[in-house]
Formats: sequence, structure tokens, C-alpha cells
Amino acid sequence: MRYVVTGAAGFIGSQLAETLQGAGHDVVGVDCFTDSYDPAEKEANAEALDDVLRLDLADEPLDLHGVDGVFHLAGQPGVRSFGGVFPLYLRRNVLATQQVLEACTRAGVRVVLASSSSVYGDAEAYPTPEEATPNPISPYGITKLACEHLLRAYGGDGVVLRYFTVYGPRQRPDMFLRRVCEALLGGNVIELYGSGAQSRSFTYVADAVEATIAAMERAPAGALYNVGGGSEATVLEAISMLEGVSGRPLDVRHVDAARGDVTRTRADVTRIRDAFGWEPRTALREGLAAMWSWAAARVAAA
Ligand code: UGA
Repeated sequence: MRYVVTGAAGFIGSQLAETLQGAGHDVVGVDCFTDSYDPAEKEANAEALDDVLRLDLADEPLDLHGVDGVFHLAGQPGVRSFGGVFPLYLRRNVLATQQVLEACTRAGVRVVLASSSSVYGDAEAYPTPEEATPNPISPYGITKLACEHLLRAYGGDGVVLRYFTVYGPRQRPDMFLRRVCEALLGGNVIELYGSGAQSRSFTYVADAVEATIAAMERAPAGALYNVGGGSEATVLEAISMLEGVSGRPLDVRHVDAARGDVTRTRADVTRIRDAFGWEPRTALREGLAAMWSWAAARVAAA
């Protein structure tokens, strides 16, 4: 098959593109290497890909001639999204997605859209099923929900995945577990937003990639699935596991809770399990060990 992966130089997109390529598919990676974090890190993420197009989806058309499916993972991530950054979220999430949907609908090509657990906000039920009423509390979450609605409005062959706090090798430098690894390695302090009692359905990146490929290959048009880790852990529990894995103590400074952060996520994955047998396979401790090895090797190589 010939697939386009947008956001192919990003954390999840690069590992999805590599997995597809490794399985023998033709993969065209698309990325515009924004400075949302160090573009050199994105270059390194995309290094193993055969074909990477540098293209800004918000204003350059996507050529889908001969393409069998589009994985749309490009976007401006991060829930702490209040303030002057909002135009970036609008452009890189809402506008870019609308352009991708135009191209996919015109070409009659399936799109798998990366959405986010942040559309639930402080959810009405835990574990949270897909039927829960979305109630995003961050500008980012609102743009992700807008992308989902756009996909429905276009009415083509689309599938929506709501990822829950994905972690593992190549995690973005602004994300919590990456910061913890780097603070443990560098001996510096980490700022903990709020009490640390907030919890997440942390989802290992390889599990998220597997669900994403299964969705492209097997989901019915119009489907919507949670893609969430098997167990919920508080931020303090995750810290203590990483301290155990690394054998080092973490220096923590408590600061105010961050606006836009939800207090809890816990995915109900019944729907995706029933649809094609996907289940998160990586236990948090195991995934953190892999992430720690990656982070330590990266620092050692620097
Ligand atoms: C993550 C991603 O950043 C979003 O792009 C994604 O859409 C979202 O998951 C999702 O599941 O939908 P988040 O859960 O906030 O968002 O992930 P982290 O940035 O890793 O934060 C996890 C927790 O650690 C949050 O409660 C946050 O307040 C806390 N944190 C983060 C800190 O205490 N200190 C930090 O320096 C960073």
C-alpha cells in the first residue's frame, strides 16, 4: 500500500511511518518541521524514512495521486494552550485538517485522524467511553474537537482516534515523562504542576502505532475509538516508577496547577477491543524502562 503520514517527523508520526515502512508499505512522510520544539530533533526522528515531503498543510495542497490512505498526525500539540499561541493551534490543527480533508475527499482516500483525550475535558465518566459528551477545557482540545467535527462534516471515509497521553522513546520535550527523564539524567529540578495527584491513562507509543495501523486497515468508515493505556497512574506514581527504573531520586518543585490540564484521564477501550482485538500491551513500568533507556542513550551520545 502507499500511505501518506502527516507529522512524520513528530513523536508518534515518525514511529508510525517507520513501522509502516518496515512492513513493506510505500510511505510518504509529510512534515513542515515547525519550531514547536527543536527542528533538529524532528530531523533526527525522520532520518530513517525514505521519502519526506517538506510541506505546510495549511497552505500547500496535498497530492494524493496513487495514495491508498492518509494518517493525519500533523498538528500543534500540547494542552497548555492559552494565550497568544492560539493562532498557531487554529492554523496547524483546524486549517491544516480542513485542507487534508479537502484533498482526501476529492481523491476518495481514507483518512485516520489523530485526535486527543483532551476533547473529554474533565470527563463525565471514568473509564471514559467514546459516547461521553466532549467538554474540552483547553484551546488545544477545542481545536482537536473541531477537527473531529470537520471530518464528520466532510463525510468521506474517515476514522478518528483519541490518543491518551502517549509516551515512550521520542516523546516531545515539553511532555511530562520526557522532562522527568531529563531531570533525572541532568540532576535538575522538575516543576510539578499542582499536587501530582492528577492521573493519566499513559499509552505506550508502540501500542498507539499498532492501533493506528489497525484502524486504517480494519475500521469501518466513520468509526471513533479511544486509544488508551491499560492502567491509570498519577503523576506522582509515574515519578516513583521512573525513580525506580533509573535508580535516581528526582528533585521536584511544586508550582500552581496549569490551566487547561484535566485532573484525570482513564480510557474505556471496549469499543476498539471489540472492533479488532486491539489492547494496550505495554505495562507502564515496562514502557518507562524503554523510555529511560532511550533518554539515557540520547544524553550519552550528545
Ligand atoms: C498529552 C499531550 O501533550 C497532548 O498533546 C495530548 O493531546 C494529550 O496528552 C492527550 O492525551 O490528549 P498531557 O496529558 O497534559 O497531554 O501530557 P503531559 O504533558 O505529559 O502532562 C502529564 C501531566 O504532567 C499533566 O497533569 C501536567 O500537568 C503534568 N506536568 C507536565 C507537570 O507537572 N510538569 C511538567 O513540566 C509537564
